[in-house]
Amino acid sequence: MKLKVLVTAGDGIGPEVTNEAVAVMQVAAEIGGHTLELAEKRIGGIAIKTDGTPLPEETLKAALDSDAVLLGAVGGNEFNSLPPDKRPEAGLLAIRSALGGFANLRPAFAFKELAVNSPLRPEIIDGADIMFVRELLGGLYFGKPREWDKAKGEAWNTMRYTTGEVARVARIAFQLAQKRRKKLCSVDKANVLEVSQLWRATVIEVATEFPDVELEHQYVDAMAMHLMNRPKDFDVVLTENLFGDILSDESGVITGSLGMLPSATIGGKVNLYEPIHGSAPDIAGKGLANPLGAILTGALVLRHSGGLETEAAAIEKAVRKVLEEGFRTPDLARANPQGFPVLKTKEMGAKVRETVQQILK
Ligand code: NAD
Ligand code: IPM
Ligand code: MN
Repeated sequence: MKLKVLVTAGDGIGPEVTNEAVAVMQVAAEIGGHTLELAEKRIGGIAIKTDGTPLPEETLKAALDSDAVLLGAVGGNEFNSLPPDKRPEAGLLAIRSALGGFANLRPAFAFKELAVNSPLRPEIIDGADIMFVRELLGGLYFGKPREWDKAKGEAWNTMRYTTGEVARVARIAFQLAQKRRKKLCSVDKANVLEVSQLWRATVIEVATEFPDVELEHQYVDAMAMHLMNRPKDFDVVLTENLFGDILSDESGVITGSLGMLPSATIGGKVNLYEPIHGSAPDIAGKGLANPLGAILTGALVLRHSGGLETEAAAIEKAVRKVLEEGFRTPDLARANPQGFPVLKTKEMGAKVRETVQQILK
C-alpha cells in the first residue's frame, strides 16, 4: 500500500527526532512492501522566519492532502515575548484545529529497563501502561473570549465545552478501554468548575453505552498525586485539553523520560502525530535528543493511518529490544549504574533501524 505522510519537523529538536522517526518508518514500510510518499513543509518558528506566519497556507494545504501528518515540535526562546496568536505554538494549534482531530491519544508505557531512570521506585512503575485520551480542540486553548487588556491590567481565557464535544471524545476513550483493561478514569475539577460538571455529567451519560467498562472520576489535583503513587491502577485516563497537557508530561516521570512519549490525534479529516515533548531549546542542535518518542510516534502513523500493524509492532518491539540491550540516550542515563552505552540521537535512530530490519526479515 501507499501512505502519503507530510512531515512538519518544526523547531529545536523537532527536525533531529523526526529525521530518525522517518528513517525508521521507511525501513519498516519498505521491508513490508509498502511505499511511504513523504513531503516536508514548514511550521512554527522556522515558518515565522521564512514565511511570516507559523502555519503557511502551503503547509496546511499539503497537510489536508495527506493521509497523515507527522510533527516534530515547535517553539523557541526567541519567540517568548510574542503574544500567543503570533507565536510558533499558534501554528500547532491552527493545524490541530484545521485537521479536526479531537482525541489526542498519549500512551504512557513504562519500559522495565528504564525504571532506574525514574525517581519513582521500580515496584511503583513496573508494568504501568496508561492511555491518556486528551480532548484537543476545546477548553482554555480555544475558548472565547480571550484577551490581555494591558490598559486595564487584566487578562482572561475561557474554559468552554459543549456536551457534544465531551461526548465524542468520551466515546473514543470508552472504546479504547473496551479493547484494553476495561477501566476508564475521567479527570475533572467538578468540585469547582461548571464546565467540569458538564464534563462529568456527559461522561456518566456516555458510560451507559459501555456497561462493560468500569468508570471512575478523579479531581485533577488528586489525580496528579495518584499518578505518581499508583500509576498501575490506571488504564484509560480521559481529560480535557489543559489537564491532559499537564498530566501527560507528568507521566514522563513514570516512563523515565519525556522523550519516550508518542501521541496520535484522531477523529478529524487527517490524523496528526507528534511526540508529546517540545522543541527542547536547552539541548537543541547538540545531537542529545532522545528520538524514541518520535520513533514510537512513527509506529502510530503506520498503525492508525496505514493499517500496517506488523510494521508498527516491529518498531515498538525494536525500541524495547534496543533498551533491553542497554542502549541509552543521555536523558535515559541520568542514572546509569551499569555503565550502559550512551548514544547520540542519530546513533539511537540507527540502532532502532537495524533492529527493525532484524525483526522483519
Ligand atoms: P520541552 O518538552 O521542550 O522540554 C522539557 C525538558 O525535557 C527539557 O529539559 C528538555 O531538554 C527535555 N526533553 C524534551 N524532549 C526531549 C527529548 N526528546 N530528549 C531528551 N530530552 C528531552 O518543554 P519546554 O522546555 O517547556 O518547552 C520548550 C518549547 O517547546 C516551548 O516553546 C514550548 O511551547 C514548546 N513545546 C512544543 C510542543 C510541540 O510542538 N508539540 C510540545 C511542548 C512544548
Ligand atoms: C503539547 C504542547 C502544546 C500543547 C503546546 C506547544 C501548544 O505542550 O503538545 O503537549 O499545549 O498542547
Ligand atoms: Mn504539553
